[in-house]
Amino acid sequence: MTRVLFVCLGNICRSPTAEAVFRRLVDDAGLAGEFEIDSAGTGGWHAGAPPDARAGSAAGRRGVRLAGAARQVTEEDFARFDVLVAMDGENLAHLRSLAPDEESAAKVRLLRADGGDVPDPYYGGPRGFEDVLDLAEEEGRRLLAELT
Ligand code: 4NP
Repeated sequence: MTRVLFVCLGNICRSPTAEAVFRRLVDDAGLAGEFEIDSAGTGGWHAGAPPDARAGSAAGRRGVRLAGAARQVTEEDFARFDVLVAMDGENLAHLRSLAPDEESAAKVRLLRADGGDVPDPYYGGPRGFEDVLDLAEEEGRRLLAELT
């Protein structure tokens, strides 16, 4: 079993999208039984909230359904998950600062292999949500190949 946690700031836009897209890729590959996939936010302001409606609509147009309620990352996540996938450099730095030890800190990485950020779409227009989906698909495929 490989456990993967996607992490952004609010856990209502980018990480629920990356989680749902990755789950779809895993399902399509027939590997559903081999992965545990979840998402969380470094911030707790939206805890309990459903995914952002704009993110949900954009995903829905690609046949991907966003689900779940936002939650904040906890220290236990570093023990439970094998990989913590940060959406941007700020999330990465925040996660590394929360990591209880070196081994935990080493589980944290960026979604983008080129070291770039998945831009936060929260305060922008609809194109931002499409960009998140594009990156989640491309980098999700690469991540899945790397983990299998
Ligand atoms: P996310 O987007 O980190 O992709 O879920 C955001 C959601 C909410 C806020 C910022 C980013 N906010 O400041 O409330």
